[in-house]
Amino acid sequence: MDHLVSPSLLSADFGNLAKEVSLVNKSEADWIHCDIMDGVFVPNISFGFPVVKAVKKISRKPLDVHLMIVDPDRYLSSWKETGADILTVQYEACIHLHRTVTEIRNLGMKAGVAINPHTPVSLLKNSLPYIDMVLIMTVNPGFGGQSFIMESYNKIAELRKMIDAGNHQVLIEVDGGVDTKNARRLVEAGVNVLVAGNTVFSSRNPVETIKKLKRFN
Ligand code: DX5
Ligand code: ZN
Repeated sequence: MDHLVSPSLLSADFGNLAKEVSLVNKSEADWIHCDIMDGVFVPNISFGFPVVKAVKKISRKPLDVHLMIVDPDRYLSSWKETGADILTVQYEACIHLHRTVTEIRNLGMKAGVAINPHTPVSLLKNSLPYIDMVLIMTVNPGFGGQSFIMESYNKIAELRKMIDAGNHQVLIEVDGGVDTKNARRLVEAGVNVLVAGNTVFSSRNPVETIKKLKRFN
């Protein structure tokens, strides 16, 4: 399959959110990435249900919601009601991961699991039959605009092998420090979904930047 691009609204202009979403709507982006931070799992607070609900109303792309929160089980059905199409929880925040991802699927969303830079991909081996996506964090979660951690390439290669060996239907998403320079290498290493915040929304022409992330030119 061709790779997907999921611009992260974390770096958008929140005073002009409708305009930013309409830029994404008319671009070649595949999804819209929404970063939810609770100030506990990560040292930052972003936005919550009302904002995502407002985005859903005007978005023509599926919402890729990334929860960086403790105890995500408390809110799974609320995220469904809010309009999440893909719901990703952090591995480190889940005590009963199988239960969590099964519930996400039962609610009618795609289930993603994100792993922090220090979390080995091997821990997900037995979860691959129950999930739709693994999000490899390529920075420490919490902020946009950080630099890409190079060790991530080894994690991507290892996960790609695990997925292919078991013939699992699981996408690999990367998040953090993705730009127009490393996009091609990431996709060649086996990534299916590129998240990009700063690269897209700090650029002069976000629509053009999204096109570059899609086509590498
Ligand atoms: C970081 C978030 C990312 C963030 C990526 O904690 O999960 O989605 O928006 O930002 P960039 O692309 O600017 O590194
Ligand atoms: Zn994210």
